[in-house]
Amino acid sequence: MKTIESRTSPLRGELTVPGDKSISHRAVMFGSIARGNTEVTGFLPGADCLSTVDCFRRLGVEIDTDIGSGRVTVRGKGMRGLCPASAPVSLYTGNSGTTTRIMSGILAPQSFTSLISGDESISSRPMRRVILPLTLMGASITSIHGNDCAPLRIEGRGLHGITYRSPVASAQVKSSILCAGLYADGATEVIEPSLSRDHTERMLRSFGAKIESFEDKDGWHARTFSCPELSARRVTVPGDISSAAYFIAAASLIPGSEILIRNVGINPTRAGIIDVAVRMGADITMLNIRNDSEPSADLLVRHAPLHGVTFGGSVIPTLIDEIPAIAVMAAAAEGTTCIRDAAELKVKETDRITTISENLTAMGCTVFPNEDGLVIEGRGPENGAVLKGALIRTGGDHRIAMAFSVAALIAEGQTVIDNEHCVEVSYPGFYRDLSAL
Ligand code: S3P
Repeated sequence: MKTIESRTSPLRGELTVPGDKSISHRAVMFGSIARGNTEVTGFLPGADCLSTVDCFRRLGVEIDTDIGSGRVTVRGKGMRGLCPASAPVSLYTGNSGTTTRIMSGILAPQSFTSLISGDESISSRPMRRVILPLTLMGASITSIHGNDCAPLRIEGRGLHGITYRSPVASAQVKSSILCAGLYADGATEVIEPSLSRDHTERMLRSFGAKIESFEDKDGWHARTFSCPELSARRVTVPGDISSAAYFIAAASLIPGSEILIRNVGINPTRAGIIDVAVRMGADITMLNIRNDSEPSADLLVRHAPLHGVTFGGSVIPTLIDEIPAIAVMAAAAEGTTCIRDAAELKVKETDRITTISENLTAMGCTVFPNEDGLVIEGRGPENGAVLKGALIRTGGDHRIAMAFSVAALIAEGQTVIDNEHCVEVSYPGFYRDLSAL
């Protein structure tokens, strides 16, 4: 439990948020099956990414981690070199959906059997979305309790390419299929209704895989081919925009604030929060834009009065993890915010339509949750304490804990976060950074 008081002073100063979680996971996974050493800088030492490191160590990969400096060296084994000490190998993915789903695509074509399990949240999240396409490729994957969730038993075998039309825009699904496709005969293609984050395409391409991506009337296509070998590359991980989101929200909401968030990843498939926040009236300036394989920039954020907006459709995958932070901004904005086409929120670490709605309601906000989003009645920008302190039930969800810690700063009275430790999944130093500004 953590008690947070409302904040009377503005946020001022600079910070660097930890490395991007999605890119950190991929650097370890793809580095493990590449030839040579993948040197990673800016690696996120959060619990989720450390679960990935642990899994690939169990698969026989040497991975040196210097957590303090964010330097990681993955001593790649090559496409066919994963070799667990004993089979079936038991792999524990903790709270990490990204590890569970993408690693399934890497394990399906191996020559050994793997068992994947995770924590309570992972054990109730849908895995059918990867079991189905991988099975169509020839994989043998069983949900051990027969509920389409982890634990999963994966008996490795030869795969063949498919064209798969994914009903959801999900980078975890797309990446899982593309990874399996590297091992499959022929071409493997995923068609998504909207473009999900493209870190896999960018990184696999830089490791030497042939990846084609394009949009046509059917949707967004990502295609790969049987790949004999990947070559290790240096990976520079920018700061995680999903972690920057809490500070964008806090600085926008607290009068007098002005902060500089250094080196934030602004890949267009991730940066939807900037567009929506600016539409809400936020004052965000991008400085020092660097167009590396993963673009990044420094973000200057100043307090500004916010107003409600409506958003949905193809922007949703570009800000899906930031919706808890955006919802807190909406709660303190003038007017109504409508979030649409975001049914995926229901299958995150918690059902975030419910956890956002219940916690905002506890703080005195009027919220109408629905099947694919939320309608939030903003309580107005400049009224001093616009929310009231409450007990926040995180459900162990890191993003709910962090978003509502920001809400606590503008609330009247004390707010209690029921489990502050869950932030370790993606942002171990969150509370230290928040209090340093
Ligand atoms: C992720 C993809 C997204 C996101 C998750 C990380 C990734 O999930 O919500 O936090 O690294 O590929 P979906 O693929 O389920 O949309």
